[in-house]
Amino acid sequence: MSDTPPTPDKREPFLAALRDSLAEETFVKLILGKYRGDEPGLRRILIRQITVKEEPCLSMVYCYKDREVTKNVSRAQGLGSIYGMLGDPFMSAHLFLLTANVQIEYSRKGRCTLSRGKPSCNAVPSAEHDREKERMIDPAKPFLAALGVTNKEARVLPSMSRKWKQINKFLEIFQHAFESSGLAEAERVHVVDFGSGKGYLTFAVHDLLSGMENVTGEVTGIELRDTLVHFCNKAATTLEREGLSFQQGDVSSYTVGPLDIMIALHACDTATDLAIHMGIRAEAKIIMCAPCCHKQIRPQMSSPDAMAPMLQFGIHMGQEAEMVTDSVRALLLEASGYKVKMLEFVSLEHTSKNKMLLAVKDARPVDRQAILEKVATLKAFYGIREHCLETLLAAEA
Ligand SMILES: C[S@@+](CC[C@H](N)C(=O)[O-])C[C@H]1O[C@@H](n2cnc3c(N)ncnc32)[C@H](O)[C@@H]1O
Repeated sequence: MSDTPPTPDKREPFLAALRDSLAEETFVKLILGKYRGDEPGLRRILIRQITVKEEPCLSMVYCYKDREVTKNVSRAQGLGSIYGMLGDPFMSAHLFLLTANVQIEYSRKGRCTLSRGKPSCNAVPSAEHDREKERMIDPAKPFLAALGVTNKEARVLPSMSRKWKQINKFLEIFQHAFESSGLAEAERVHVVDFGSGKGYLTFAVHDLLSGMENVTGEVTGIELRDTLVHFCNKAATTLEREGLSFQQGDVSSYTVGPLDIMIALHACDTATDLAIHMGIRAEAKIIMCAPCCHKQIRPQMSSPDAMAPMLQFGIHMGQEAEMVTDSVRALLLEASGYKVKMLEFVSLEHTSKNKMLLAVKDARPVDRQAILEKVATLKAFYGIREHCLETLLAAEA
């Protein structure tokens, strides 16, 4: 038996530093380098913090010689796999924090060193570099801190930098649409946000309207999850946000009253159709939605002969189903008297959910029948039997 004491496992303190930094919001990025495994072309993994469906997650970008592959995983899953890769196959890991740089290195002989030095990243992670040009909101607004977007010093938390971008971009689009819709002349404006989640956009819209002269904004968030409704109402009360409230409700059964602007960002599958339908029925001046998953149409879609070489690939079929779903939505909105735009929203956590369908009520007459014929042609081309929004609108015709 050897008398040599076992080498202490330095992965533990390294991982503890990583775990603590995530909890304390001081994490900027982690790079796993000096790859010695057998995956061809793999050089390093770049890890950042992101938020997916309100949950903190890790985005792991596998950098190959000629491409990058991104995997978004839960924090627990990410921490587990990082731990498993330290020392083998990655011989170095460099942790960039707002408070320090921490590095773990393995020599070829397996000797491990852990070092800690001064931080090389200042308070602003790279995703926020273009904050100035994107900013629609003052980061010192108290609601941002209450919702956990900023800290006490009014700095955007690293994990919220993408959400920050999203809020700003959303407000930019909102403001344009608001000005072009004639609503700026109205005394009262009622906005309903379906699937309001933690209320980032709901608070932001209320804040924007509160800053406008001569307009009184009433903003209502409708959310399935009770805990989020409670959280948002508490924050709205504490911050004395008059005219902002949240209600627990399901978009599929919610009874809508008069509303001027309907928002639905990332409402799942046909929940987007239900929300659009509600907006049309309430004669909303503006309908803004960023569709989420598109499950209804894909299983119905057949592949027209000429497109078979393209649609033989599952990924293409998925993209086509999204395009067809949203195009039919756009046509049905046009047939209901809206001018429709499809915009690129922002890239959310590297997902494809970055499309925004923006519809603004237009007084000009439309040839409804001709538009509905386009819908029928599109459906027939792909063999689609049913589209939720069409069914909802037909039921009340
Ligand atoms: C992806 S989150 C988006 C939250 C928010 N709109 C945003 O962009 O930050 C979707 C939210 O919709 C809620 N939701 C899902 N289905 C719903 C339904 N049928 N009715 C109301 N809310 C729903 C979820 O609980 C979740 O909070």
